[in-house]
Amino acid sequence: MGGDVFFGHTLPGAETKRLFASRPCFERNAMPKSTIIPLSQIKEEPYASVVCYPRASPSEIQVRIEEMQKLGVEALEFSGKASAFTLSVLGKGYVGIVVVARVGNERLALKMQRVDSDRESLEREAELLSKANSVGVGPKFRAVTKHFLLMQLVNGDLLEVWLQTHKDKAVVRKILTDILEQCWRLDEISLDHGELSKAPKHLLVDGTDKPFIVDFETASTQRNASNVTSVCQYLFQGNSDVCKAIAQIIGDRNRAELVAALRKYRKERNRRNFEDLLQRCLE
Ligand SMILES: Nc1ncnc2c1ncn2[C@@H]1O[C@H](COP(=O)(O)OP(=O)(O)OP(=O)(O)O)[C@@H](O)[C@H]1O
Ligand SMILES: [Mg+2]
Repeated sequence: MGGDVFFGHTLPGAETKRLFASRPCFERNAMPKSTIIPLSQIKEEPYASVVCYPRASPSEIQVRIEEMQKLGVEALEFSGKASAFTLSVLGKGYVGIVVVARVGNERLALKMQRVDSDRESLEREAELLSKANSVGVGPKFRAVTKHFLLMQLVNGDLLEVWLQTHKDKAVVRKILTDILEQCWRLDEISLDHGELSKAPKHLLVDGTDKPFIVDFETASTQRNASNVTSVCQYLFQGNSDVCKAIAQIIGDRNRAELVAALRKYRKERNRRNFEDLLQRCLE
């Protein structure tokens, strides 16, 4: 993909709310909740050092602004539950900072590669996300440049936060089934996400209660795909807050039966063993 921009398919039914300001617009809070900064102002601080996290140089921010122009980004929206310096962002990891980008009438998620990350570029991640999209998994890929990955915005919460306010057994079972089915489809195409056994940051649920698996940066098609077994471990085994919340809502699992079903699926990955495991997880 070189240094160029690579566009994926156009996202149908995208959000059309246009909220574009030519000046920064701060909500009345000590810590701004939502700040919309047009691209023409991104070289100012603290925006530049969030785009080039953790520290901007004039040449680095210039390269990055040009990449964002190629992607059609008109403004960045600093909002969300995480923070980078004094600004709110959707998420902050070791590889990237994720913010909302305004592209025409749409609000999309933009993963911006950290300057101090050990990755060459975000292009490999884009390839793997596109592959996940081919089986209906992950936020829809839109476009990539060396340092930026543009994708569908998942407007929602981390699963563990969502579980704090969603206690309806049928609704919770439905999203857990959806997560397991998505993992089955990834297993089927031999795409191993790689970080689903400790997934507190990689499972999101949007406002329509649809779950999304995010971050295909450590995914691989070379390893043995173990998405189903890894996510089962995260959701139903162990002692994490998520396990406890799920057990409280849908009841305790029979551990021995669950372990046996996991073992059977691991040994022979087929639909029958998957459905048997699904039943052990959610019955
Ligand atoms: N498409 C999206 N829509 C909304 N929020 C997102 C989206 N993609 C990522 N996020 C948020 O940003 C956070 C960081 O993203 P991501 O996990 O891709 O970054 P990372 O640098 O690879 O993180 P890590 O170091 O934990 O692997 C996620 O946990 C999630 O909260
Ligand atoms: Mg990551």
